[in-house]
Amino acid sequence: MKEYDLKQVIDEQSIRSRVKELARTIEADMRYCEDVVIIGILKGAFIFMADLVRHFSFPMQIDFIRIASYGTGHTSSGEIRVTKDIEVDIEGKHVLLIEDIVDTGLSLKWVMDYLKKRKPASLKVCVFIDKKERRECEVSVDYVGFEVQEGFLVGYGLDYSERHRELPGVYEVRFRNG
Ligand code: IMP
Ligand code: MG
Repeated sequence: MKEYDLKQVIDEQSIRSRVKELARTIEADMRYCEDVVIIGILKGAFIFMADLVRHFSFPMQIDFIRIASYGTGHTSSGEIRVTKDIEVDIEGKHVLLIEDIVDTGLSLKWVMDYLKKRKPASLKVCVFIDKKERRECEVSVDYVGFEVQEGFLVGYGLDYSERHRELPGVYEVRFRNG
């Protein structure tokens, strides 16, 4: 593996206050919905989702979906398959989908289309980080934690080859020359 350094781009305290703020907004929108299902996209969303749902005071069901996309370590190819499906029946329910980061948008768009086939009453999306510059398809995101222009990020659930998910802040991977 190439050598690299990590440069912090979002600190733990900023994440904590932003997540709380975001949770308050979502709660205001969803508190009167009956039958809410929160679905996290594994593995990246696990920490964000865990922090977010602990601020909610409305009843909910929780589930996960895991997808694999064929591509290199840094980019997804758009060729996607489900490796762990949801187990809760979402038909007629209000779904909030939680994703770690949206980059090209291909993964999220695919999962949204996949879930819509199960006929939820509504489908909203919350992403921890919106990385706007490489967007390849239009995807509607309802709630965004942070907007970032570029860079490959790790920490707070995000990985580089399964590493650094445990970091409480977000860091940019800086590859060393030579
Ligand atoms: P997209 O399909 O290009 O939007 O890519 C989304 C997926 O690629 C995310 O769910 C992540 O798993 C991964 N990904 C994209 N950018 C990053 C990053 O900066 N750090 C870690 N994973 C990323
Ligand atoms: Mg992911």
